[in-house]
Formats: sequence, C-alpha cells, structure tokens
Amino acid sequence: MAEQTVPLIVDVDTGIDDSLALLYLMASPEAELLGITCTAGNVTARQVATNNLAWLELCGYADVEVALGAEVPIIAPLMTTEETHGPQGIGYAELPAPTRALSSRHATQVWIDNARRRPGEITGLVTGPLTNLALAVKLEPELPRLLKRIVVMGGAFNHPGNTNPTTEWNVAVDPDAARIVFDAFSGLPEGRRPVICALDVTERIEMRPHHIAALAEACGSTPAEIIDPDDPPGRRSQASNRVVRHLSDAVRFYMEFHRLYDQGFLAHMHDPFAAAVALDPALATTRRATVDVELAGTLTRGQTVADWRGMWGREPNADIVVDTDPEEFFRRAIERVAALARRVG
Ligand code: BDR
Ligand code: CA
Repeated sequence: MAEQTVPLIVDVDTGIDDSLALLYLMASPEAELLGITCTAGNVTARQVATNNLAWLELCGYADVEVALGAEVPIIAPLMTTEETHGPQGIGYAELPAPTRALSSRHATQVWIDNARRRPGEITGLVTGPLTNLALAVKLEPELPRLLKRIVVMGGAFNHPGNTNPTTEWNVAVDPDAARIVFDAFSGLPEGRRPVICALDVTERIEMRPHHIAALAEACGSTPAEIIDPDDPPGRRSQASNRVVRHLSDAVRFYMEFHRLYDQGFLAHMHDPFAAAVALDPALATTRRATVDVELAGTLTRGQTVADWRGMWGREPNADIVVDTDPEEFFRRAIERVAALARRVG
C-alpha cells in the first residue's frame, strides 16, 4: 500500500537544527510541503527566510512557498542567538544565495488559507517561537479545529531550561505567543491535541560526529567526513556532496557550541526530531497534560508548566512526548537525508 501523504505547514526560525528538520522533510516521500513560514528567533526573520530559500533551492524544492512572518515577538523585545547558530543561523555553512523571491503572502495567511482549503487534513509543525501561529489564531480562531494536529518543538517540563534555568528557547523568545497557542488549542479531542517535543526528550537526540560520517558514506560523498573534536574550531568540510558539505559545516558549529557549554562534542537535534514526529507520531510516546506558560514570574517568565494530575481542574490540552527511540530517529534521518543528498549530488 502506498505510504499516506502528510500535508504540512512548517514554521521555522532556521537555525542549524531547523535546517536539518527541513532536510528531513524534503527527504521524506510522504511529506507534502505546502508552505514554509518564517519567524524571528535564532536569527532575524529575514535571515531565516534567506536560509529557508537557500536550503530549498539547493535541494531542488524551489517551488515550495516560503513566506515571511512576524519579525518581532508579540510583546517581548526580540532576542536572537547568533552565538548558538552562527552569524547567519547556519553555523559555518555558506549556502549559495537564493535566486527567487519570498511569497507575497504573510505567514499567517499561508496558515489560514491552507487550513481553510483542506480542513482536517493538515499537520502544522512549529520549530521556532510560536509568534506566527499565535497571530494566525487571532485572525482565524477556528484554526485549531481546521488543522489535523500541530507538533511543536518547545518547552521544558521535568528538565532544566536552555535559555534561563527553567525556560526553553522557543518559548522564552515569545512566551505570550506560546500562552495564546496553548489556550487556543485547548478543548480538542484525543488524537488532535498539540504534540509537544520539549527539551526533556529532544536533549536525548544527540547527533555525534559518527552520524555525519555515516550520512556521508551512505550517499557516496568523498573523502570520509570526519568531524574531529581535536580539529581547530571552524575547520571546513571538503565533502564532494553539497548537502553533506553544508550540513557538516553547520553541525560542526553546533557541536562546538554544545562543548562550550559542557554538554559534550555533540549537537541536540531538537527540530529534526519534531519533524520526524510530525510525519510519524508513533515515533514518540506521549502523556497528556494541561500545559500553561508562566508570564508573570520575575525569574521564570516563559516557563512551561504541565499539570499532569488534573490539579487545575482543566481539560488536558497537550500530548507531551515523554519517550522515544533516538537510535531509530537517527536511522531514519541518515537513510532519508542520504538518499536526498545522493539525488542533489
Ligand atoms: C530550540 O531553540 C532553537 O535554538 C533550536 O532551533 C530549537 O528549535 C531548542 O530549544
Ligand atoms: Ca528552531
């Protein structure tokens, strides 16, 4: 039987791991990419847009709509993190400049128009701050019921934050947007609730140099792609394959960043994992909870709080990913992206 198609709208703040999420989706035959929407986060929204156009063009997906969205969070001043993702948001990678223009539609319109056109069919994936989705919900309050489901990378529950002690980056950038989304997506039935990929699980998705080596080997890239922790920082890839070369340059930066913060010479693949879950929810074990976002705390603004036991007396509004098989994720990622890389050359 033919694999079932998954129509997707993807909102990103590309971003090194957002980049690999896009590669994973382009490499997945069941993914039907209806639109990529850009939000400010890791880098500015305009830089995010350039990165998205560049990755799509490199991989031969130049016909997928890329739309600019919010350039600042709903209330908070914008913070970006070039320290984590490099000056352009893609580590040491230097992608060829894209030749085509952005969509004339705003990101929110891409969400709304697609969802109205195909009610109950579309999966939304958000791997950046939730600003665009929150604004879209304000314009079309039916959006949560028009979508099949959303998968979000964001939050930290029984796990330390990566931005402040209790806050995860995507929610920390725009906590007000996150609150709007969790409110708006409340009251959905089992199977339609937002699936939340928080740091509790995404920090278990550890990409190491051997994964990049395996990807390069699987697509026939030469020479062997070795990211050696003892290399001088910033050494550039000589890979014959363009996807491998750019990805390796991007991921090396992320590994150096993680080492700087005592997490080892590895890179957490938050966003590609969320992409894989969007295509196949069975990859994740979830537990339902009621989620809210702290907005008033002086030390904890942006903290995601899960009520696992119904203490607030409110219906569950999220399925939080509590377990997965990281090996299986990497098996899929390497197999799929290698096939894409082979095609691109
Ligand atoms: C999230 O923050 C960003 O820096 C990453 O791209 C990911 O979406 C992890 O907290
Ligand atoms: Ca991201």
